[in-house]
Amino acid sequence: MEIQDKKVIVVGGASGMGRATAELLHQRGAQVAILDREGSDGPAVAASLDGWFFPVEVTDFELTEQALQAAVDALGGLHVTVTTAGGGYPGGRTLSKDGPHSLDLFRKTMDLNVIATFNICRLSAAHMARNEPEDEERGVLINTSSIAAFEGQIGQVAYSAAKAAIAGMMLTMARDLGAVGIRALAIAPSLFDTGIIAKVPPERIAPLVAGNAFPVRMGRPSEYAKLAAAIVENPMLNGQCLRLDAGMRFSPK
Ligand SMILES: NC(=O)c1ccc[n+]([C@@H]2O[C@H](COP(=O)([O-])OP(=O)(O)OC[C@H]3O[C@@H](n4cnc5c(N)ncnc54)[C@H](O)[C@@H]3O)[C@@H](O)[C@H]2O)c1
Repeated sequence: MEIQDKKVIVVGGASGMGRATAELLHQRGAQVAILDREGSDGPAVAASLDGWFFPVEVTDFELTEQALQAAVDALGGLHVTVTTAGGGYPGGRTLSKDGPHSLDLFRKTMDLNVIATFNICRLSAAHMARNEPEDEERGVLINTSSIAAFEGQIGQVAYSAAKAAIAGMMLTMARDLGAVGIRALAIAPSLFDTGIIAKVPPERIAPLVAGNAFPVRMGRPSEYAKLAAAIVENPMLNGQCLRLDAGMRFSPK
């Protein structure tokens, strides 16, 4: 799908990889709406892109539906949805000296990542299905997993499970949506220089990226954005989770 003149929603677009993606797609001629938390930099980012901002808390599934609808109304349609909203809660081992892992935290991690992502995808697909196809294509869904989906570290069991579920649903979702010409993918980043990680001092980052094959550094938000743009443009990319990791494999700790 050509990026020029497409209507794009970036959930989590106020910061980090989502922001960089919103900026790159805007530079390439897309119209962009940002959905992010109330109090985020979303309004300023949206204004800098001549776009729109709608506040959302993605674990409020009904509010998300309303915010998506408002964004689609403002844009006048929807071709691409990117979601980077998500993350982890304080981790824990399946069993620690304090007892078994909190079921509540496990469920919250699922809500924030799996249910929220699925909700955004299913609702976006319903909007995209109304598009006139361009070269048989109606839309693209880009979600955010993590390499922790494949090599979760000790204490990350909930986060790993949630990110693995995002990776795991892409092929089925792509198959579900193939008949309407909508593609579904996820990106699994390694350590990227965003959000709270950007505040960690370099001496604490060095050992975390030492296992990279090359380059031996954190990923840059612009590098996620470039992959997102390539996904939009290349219709043969579908139904998978693409690692974006400089050859990194997380060790157990
Ligand atoms: N940065 C990394 O090293 C890394 C690595 C692997 C995966 N990820 C994943 O990337 C995503 C985070 O993106 P980032 O690294 O650019 O971080 P970031 O903090 O810079 O951006 C995340 C954006 O999502 C928004 N957001 C978070 N939770 C939300 C919620 N519940 N409702 C609405 N908006 C919400 C935040 O306000 C923020 O603007 C997460 O899904 C995270 O699991 C990050």
